[in-house]
Amino acid sequence: MKISKRVEKVAPSGIRVFFDLVLGMKDVISLGVGEPDFVTPWGIREKAIYSLEQGYTSYTSNMGMIELRREIAAFLKRRHGLDYNPEDEILITVGSSEAFDLVCRTLTNSGYKILVPQPSYVSYYPLFYLAGANPHYLTTTIDNGFKLTPQQIDKACDKNTKILVINYPANPTGVSYTKKELLEFSKIAKKRNLIVISDEIYDELTYDFNHTPFATLPGMREKTVYLNGFSKAYAMTGFRIGYACGPKEIIYHMNKIHQYTMLCASIIAQMAAMEALKNGAKSVLQMKKEYRRRREYIVDELNRIGLRTHKPEGAFYVFPSIRNTGYSSMDFALNLIRKKKVAVVPGTAFGPSGEGYVRMAFASSLDNLKEAILRISEFLKR
Ligand SMILES: Cc1ncc(COP(=O)(O)O)c(C=O)c1O
Repeated sequence: MKISKRVEKVAPSGIRVFFDLVLGMKDVISLGVGEPDFVTPWGIREKAIYSLEQGYTSYTSNMGMIELRREIAAFLKRRHGLDYNPEDEILITVGSSEAFDLVCRTLTNSGYKILVPQPSYVSYYPLFYLAGANPHYLTTTIDNGFKLTPQQIDKACDKNTKILVINYPANPTGVSYTKKELLEFSKIAKKRNLIVISDEIYDELTYDFNHTPFATLPGMREKTVYLNGFSKAYAMTGFRIGYACGPKEIIYHMNKIHQYTMLCASIIAQMAAMEALKNGAKSVLQMKKEYRRRREYIVDELNRIGLRTHKPEGAFYVFPSIRNTGYSSMDFALNLIRKKKVAVVPGTAFGPSGEGYVRMAFASSLDNLKEAILRISEFLKR
């Protein structure tokens, strides 16, 4: 059978490989999958149940329910002073993953050079590659806390460079940026006339300073496609609901792909998302407080047992270096799960520069983390 050359070349997600391994094993502590260990707050689940009871079972507008788009617009205005028109600048998608795919396909022309940070979320490279582009990696390391620099972005630009992807707080490194740092990026974006795709899905889980959306920086609103969703902060991964905000021309074209593929996001998820924005803030803060507590614990402990770990500014991941163990990332993860039943993700799942690291999600109870640290330290002694 003939398979498309580009599809054939794309490797399956390295995270899923480990997830599948864990499913078949008993007594495993999984720090593998990047989703909250909390169940969706009750008020949001209740809203979903009521919606079904009340007969909300139909399609919605392709762009998503106007009530939800208005709620998102009001939320972004209230929280960040961001102004998006709910009529034509906000698109509701099936998770922010769909939004990323749509924006890749909407903005890519052949020959474009797309700048993607590295290590980074597993979908960025394949989705741009499938859209016909050849992404260019901007590599970061633990030595500068996994931060991109404006000089690095500038140096990577040539006449074919059209798009910069940024993600903060980031998966898998947890790195985030202050407003001052982001301003430097925006100057390069302006100088090089780049469109910025800004994946801010972990924005509410920023621990050390206030989160600044890229679109709020001077001149950036018209140059940015802002992606967000409900999966992480509201513990709603299974609802599959996200959104994209941006200039109306880009949203218009993204919606064309969306209407032929997804039609619309699930109406039940849209109803639940509305409830999340109206009444979910307190639950978000409670979960954030718990993640912060776990962050302090796991960063200190990993460093103590000899795995150099940068303290993440946000999200719920640590990305310790395992170089001094002599293992490759893959062998470290495979041996750790086989010998001590702790699941982590090899850094290479996030691109080649993830070699020498593993990702651990601290979206797991403090008791689990304590047991995991015990098992990892025993593993290291052997
Ligand atoms: C950086 C980043 N962006 C997007 C997503 C996808 O989120 P969603 O559930 O909204 O599709 C994830 C999920 O792990 C992520 O880490």
